[in-house]
Amino acid sequence: MELETKAYPKFLVRTVVVVTTISERGISNAAPFSFNSPISFDPPLYGFSCNPAHDTWRNIQENGEFVVNIVGKDLAELMHVLETDYPYEDSEIAHAGLTEEEAKAVKPPRIKEAIAWIECKLEKSVELGDHIWITGNVVKAEVKDEFWKEAGVLDVERAKPLCHIAGEFFAVDMKEAKYKRAK
Ligand SMILES: Cc1cc2nc3c(=O)[nH]c(=O)nc-3n(C[C@H](O)[C@H](O)[C@H](O)COP(=O)(O)O)c2cc1C
Repeated sequence: MELETKAYPKFLVRTVVVVTTISERGISNAAPFSFNSPISFDPPLYGFSCNPAHDTWRNIQENGEFVVNIVGKDLAELMHVLETDYPYEDSEIAHAGLTEEEAKAVKPPRIKEAIAWIECKLEKSVELGDHIWITGNVVKAEVKDEFWKEAGVLDVERAKPLCHIAGEFFAVDMKEAKYKRAK
């Protein structure tokens, strides 16, 4: 099947994150993002691609901080609430019935119900196509103990991370697979 080129993201299944930010007056904002990726180990850099019209970008420009909340299948039904374009400073976290919790190294809150949190300070932003690529310096990384395996990896079968295909289509219920490395 040959598709129009702009349909290519539908070939790439991506972890859904909910990015939390705050306005200058300290009011929280949350929005789901799936155009996102780790970038570098040292220094630890994380990036996501944000439409410039989003409140998330406005807030990051104001104070340069954000929290990346990695979410599970249990929050799938809330994505349509979190992606609603509420007026500026009308928090999606409250509309979704989620719980704000203090972050450890930045001012925007974490979402308590998340699997893991990546707290970031803006490193740089670049306008790329119709989005802004936002790169954050990771200042804190934490995962809930019950979703971390002794082997030092995420327990995907327990955490059930939510992945995005496109629009209202998601991928869930992954199985772990471990393969021997070639010597
Ligand atoms: C699963 C999912 C993934 C999304 N991924 C992105 C994305 O990667 N980049 C983006 O700009 N918007 C994305 N959106 C749309 C935004 O979340 C949505 O427009 C939101 O209202 C923006 O909120 P804000 O204005 O509070 O920042 C996504 C929506 C959903 C439901």
